[in-house]
Amino acid sequence: MPCPALPDGFDLTDPDLYRQRVPLPEFAALRRTAPVWWNAQPHGIAGFDDDGYWAVTRHADVKEVSTRPEVFSAAANTSIIRFNEHIGREEIDAQRLIMLNMDPPEHTRVRQIVQRGFTPRSIRALESALRTRAEAIVAAARDRGSGDFVTDIACELPLQAIAELIGVPQEDRARIFDWSNKMIAYDDPELAVTREAGTLAAAELISYAMNLAAERKECPARDIVSRLVAAEDEGNLGSDEFGFFVLLLAVAGNETTRNAISHGMHAFLTHPEQWELYRSERPATAAEEIVRWATPVVSFQRTATEDTELGGVPVRAGQRVGLFYASANHDPEVFARPDAFDITRDPNPHLGFGGGGPHFCLGKSLATLEIDLVFHAIADTVPGIRAAGEPRRLRSAWLNGIKELRVRYT
Ligand code: HEM
Repeated sequence: MPCPALPDGFDLTDPDLYRQRVPLPEFAALRRTAPVWWNAQPHGIAGFDDDGYWAVTRHADVKEVSTRPEVFSAAANTSIIRFNEHIGREEIDAQRLIMLNMDPPEHTRVRQIVQRGFTPRSIRALESALRTRAEAIVAAARDRGSGDFVTDIACELPLQAIAELIGVPQEDRARIFDWSNKMIAYDDPELAVTREAGTLAAAELISYAMNLAAERKECPARDIVSRLVAAEDEGNLGSDEFGFFVLLLAVAGNETTRNAISHGMHAFLTHPEQWELYRSERPATAAEEIVRWATPVVSFQRTATEDTELGGVPVRAGQRVGLFYASANHDPEVFARPDAFDITRDPNPHLGFGGGGPHFCLGKSLATLEIDLVFHAIADTVPGIRAAGEPRRLRSAWLNGIKELRVRYT
């Protein structure tokens, strides 16, 4: 279906579009006139042999694709990541070991295992350690008087949370943080991290996690690693699988949460009445609204496994489908005043954590806990905070990121 409101050659995958503003104003036009729209990519995209994909922008359609994994595969056609030469293990099929790229029944097996580490009880067990961390991080930033909110506050808690969750010893954390930061920075031309250095960092992280798993298998401790790898059989992860699971956590749980916290701060700075409300009432609904507002993951893709139909549009087997969470989260069919930042919004059926299918974010409870802990610490201990410049955005078509947010504490 063509969209008359868009100029020729418009490509939702162009990272420069997202430098100024997410959600893009074009999403509204697409939802209205062409909710399943063929986004041509005449120059192709690395790893794919087709020349475009279906861009899905309405809330209902994003949910539909997410919840029909048998027709919209997460595995087919996704880009192959090559770490093998760095970890010296020719036989590992990296693509097959990352659960985000798996389909049922393999995905179901892995998800059932890793969910053991993400039960409400496991997350509650981290709360007091993470609260202490959040308070220390906020106090150190406040005492400096001013600085970059992203590096000083938003970056560290997500890394600490993952390290805490998988029981990384304190003495190894600096290395883990360094690898994680290099891995997520490598695509940004403004940062001096080459693609090669990013891949190498990912390989080092995988090797580290594989060794940790092997050690815990020998000598179990009372942590999640030991629980996931205890004995290598159908009900547990192999050391290789564990290595790639940690890699996924370092990508999926790190920059997403960092950007939610940074966008949350920016939203509070630009909506002072919401910050006053937060300070006085601490509504439990705030973290979900921050995630809807930020939508850190702009979009993910699936591939059709058979000829099918979506929103009345025929989709052929093998074609890719892009799920635009950033558009679905502003769909006026679902959200009253979708462009208002309202921390009391309830219900808030946003798709920031996915469209509710089998891949729905595993770390949702951890992420919302982290967001709550950071803003509670700020509200409790920082008398005043104001912006000291415009935020600098990440150049990316799939992550809605803030790279720098200068603030002054009073
Ligand atoms: C999957 C968003 C934090 C771990 C996802 C997906 C989204 C998402 C959109 C894909 C859903 C789908 O395809 O249907 C976010 C956002 C976060 C966040 C916005 C922060 C605000 C975290 C954290 C962790 C985590 C803290 C863990 C430490 C995962 C994993 C998956 C996932 C493992 C893959 C699940 C699967 O394939 O079954 N997340 N995430 N995420 N997330 Fe998160």
